[in-house]
Amino acid sequence: NKVVLAYSGGLDTSIIIPWLKENYGCEVIAYAADVGQEEELEPLNEKAIKTGASKIYIEDLKEELVRDFVFPMIKSGAIYENRYLLGTSIARPVIAKRQVEIAIKEGADAVAHGATGKGNDQVRFELTFKALKPDLKIIAPWREWDIKSRDEEIDYAEARGIPVPVSKAKPYSMDRNLWHISYEGGILEDPWNEYNEDMFILTASPEQAPDQPEILTIDFEKGVPVAINGQGYDPVALIFKLNEIAGRHGVGRVDIVENRLVGMKSRGVYETPAGTVLYEAHHALETITLDRDTLHYKQMVAGRYAELVYFGQWFTPLRQALDAFIDQTQERVSGSIKVKLFKGSVQTVGRKSPYSLYQEKLATFGADQVYNQKDAEGFINLFGLPLKVQASLDQSLKK
Ligand code: ARG
Ligand code: SIN
Repeated sequence: NKVVLAYSGGLDTSIIIPWLKENYGCEVIAYAADVGQEEELEPLNEKAIKTGASKIYIEDLKEELVRDFVFPMIKSGAIYENRYLLGTSIARPVIAKRQVEIAIKEGADAVAHGATGKGNDQVRFELTFKALKPDLKIIAPWREWDIKSRDEEIDYAEARGIPVPVSKAKPYSMDRNLWHISYEGGILEDPWNEYNEDMFILTASPEQAPDQPEILTIDFEKGVPVAINGQGYDPVALIFKLNEIAGRHGVGRVDIVENRLVGMKSRGVYETPAGTVLYEAHHALETITLDRDTLHYKQMVAGRYAELVYFGQWFTPLRQALDAFIDQTQERVSGSIKVKLFKGSVQTVGRKSPYSLYQEKLATFGADQVYNQKDAEGFINLFGLPLKVQASLDQSLKK
């Protein structure tokens, strides 16, 4: 008889409050999460109560998001379909986790969210609910009510005296947190249409970005970024700082068509400035600190890890097991990476680590003290033996 609703203060989740009361006769507790979306959440206190909630929780999840979700994901190297840095996907489990904690504290028997029935987000919320408190009832109004459009939402709100946000409807469906902003829908729905330059918030357009490149160093400890240009930052501050620097240089935009878990393809445009730099730098550091076999195996794990994050399967035995593997690989992923930012691109231009496996004397084509070129002949003979066996069989069959 009590439901905890993931609430943003927007029109969608605002009308869910009276809808829940009318259709379930329950008390509604609103819950808003600060995941670095840079919106004033304070005004939601009054707004939620006015709209009919019995109380509201406003929770700062930024640090938990970065420390317990984003950093493990960076270590894994997960990128969905080779492009998407999973900005929305990675924030959903932490939002849903706190929602469950509030439900437990409040003795609520249900949770509700405002994600539509066509998307990935509903899955991410609900898998987290199921994994953390299987007996909670889940209410997803968008799958139940017959409101179909924004106009119908406005009618519903006005009929109940709920103030409709004065701001015009956004031309895109957006989702923002400290890691990224996503844009979908509107003119982007036609995958042939180019995005509008003025849509972007975190990144300058590469054409307008400074004509001088900027060199940065990023330090890592055990796979986790800890400093920029030698200065230490706590996890949240590091992301914000790097967003600002990389965003200025137009780094971190992608425009893709992706496969949603629910089966359809969808066009999305994303800006992830800090993330793009961190993925590049982290990978560059692994190229000197990991041995070949571990690096290659880890690349396979990264693809699977990306699916787990995208599909909402964070709280699963497989993700936990992969993290154990990944953490083991990161023991010596410490050191510094120098990157160059310039008009939308980020490039590694220097790397060093106390654990570097790179040995100049092995790689140079100079004197042969540690590496005997004569050894290569025997190595190639054995490595190529199966090819010779195969070829001679093919030849004898042709006769
Ligand atoms: N397509 C991306 C994903 O599934 C972004 C989703 C954005 N969600 C939203 N409610 N606007 O992760
Ligand atoms: C939605 O809000 O349901 C659409 C985006 C998604 O979940 O993929």
